[in-house]
Amino acid sequence: MLLEAPVYKELFGTIEIYEVQKVIKLDTQTRDVGSFTVKNVPREDIYRILEDMAIVVPMKNEKLQLVDGVLKAIPHQCPIIVVSNSKREGPNLFKQEVDLIKHFYNLTHSKIIMVHQKDIGIAKAFQEVGYTDVLDSNGDVRSGKGEGMLIGILLAKSLGVKYVGFVDADNYIPGAVNEYVKDYAAGFLMSESDYSMVRLSWRHKPKVSKRGLYFRKWGRVSEITNRYMNALFGAGTNFETNIIATGNAGEHAMTIKLAEILPFSTGYSIEPFELVYIFERFGQWEGVEEYRDVYDQGIEIFQIETLNPHFHEEKGQEHVASMILSSLGVIYHSKLATKSLKKRILEDLRLHGLLGEDEEPPRPQTMRPVKDIDANTWLDVLEDNAETLFKFEI
Ligand code: GDP
Ligand code: CO
Repeated sequence: MLLEAPVYKELFGTIEIYEVQKVIKLDTQTRDVGSFTVKNVPREDIYRILEDMAIVVPMKNEKLQLVDGVLKAIPHQCPIIVVSNSKREGPNLFKQEVDLIKHFYNLTHSKIIMVHQKDIGIAKAFQEVGYTDVLDSNGDVRSGKGEGMLIGILLAKSLGVKYVGFVDADNYIPGAVNEYVKDYAAGFLMSESDYSMVRLSWRHKPKVSKRGLYFRKWGRVSEITNRYMNALFGAGTNFETNIIATGNAGEHAMTIKLAEILPFSTGYSIEPFELVYIFERFGQWEGVEEYRDVYDQGIEIFQIETLNPHFHEEKGQEHVASMILSSLGVIYHSKLATKSLKKRILEDLRLHGLLGEDEEPPRPQTMRPVKDIDANTWLDVLEDNAETLFKFEI
């Protein structure tokens, strides 16, 4: 793969965040490209690390045709982890997903694990290891994309892989999904730290309009989140920037070492919260002893602009509004946010009718890092009690 070499990066404490790198050529073999402005990540290197990267697919009531395309597009070497929160009655969509995945396994013999988020065994496993952050007051696992991802991370950890990547189940273009996974691999191959993250941004997000397909440069939510995320970064460093282009990147990947030490926020605010937490915790040289190794190696964040457009299911105006509210809530409640930044967020949200006069955006609800969870015990308890766990070829 040929990528724009990162010419520019911002530093913030021990964090290095690289400017967006565009994919220039999707597929290359080992060969010197003879240019310093282009980074060559040979195909062989990408394929070498894929088996060390689990791909977590969180899903909730998505169209089966889309799920099917996504699964078939994930490179064969990557173990797949499906965490579903789909309906189990009236109608039982989960059963259809299970049938789909069994069939997919029979055809491909891919390594694949599947579990339902509300499986009693998961709740029990969390209780057993003393981690109740994902449970509601009844002791059941909460709904939420963030909760699903956290379960995915633990399953990835129990597989012993080095990287975990996330791919949404509602993607219309299987070829795009295939690229995303390779983009993650390319990012990790450029990294020198064990604590790194690769976040994807889109060249275009097509919308269907009366005039046909319209290739929007930005999604509405990401534009707003990125603007304030950059302002927050500027508040933390005293240097304004526009380097952040992936505040809401659902398509992203991390080393397990980084995933383990991050707290996650619930629901849809998980992706902006990752950045905000990293800025708050590692943007300064405080509490270095607790995370010596992180401070020694640094945290590297890569942003890659995909060649493929991002074409996913439209979830409606209400979903968009709640995404904006929870994303800006994460920034608003950050300890790095200045008074004037908070004021701007409030004004903007009120202007757009997303917030009442005396209201504040929601404070993110967070779940502690999973580093202290004994993943093997967690998995043992899950396996002993699960009703919906399917493990193929692992
Ligand atoms: P958007 O693409 O960020 O606008 O949000 P989506 O609604 O498409 O959600 C992203 C992914 O998370 C999709 O694959 C959803 O099916 C999935 N998802 C949403 N809610 C949940 C949940 O409660 N649990 C799990 N496991 N996945 C979820
Ligand atoms: Co989506």
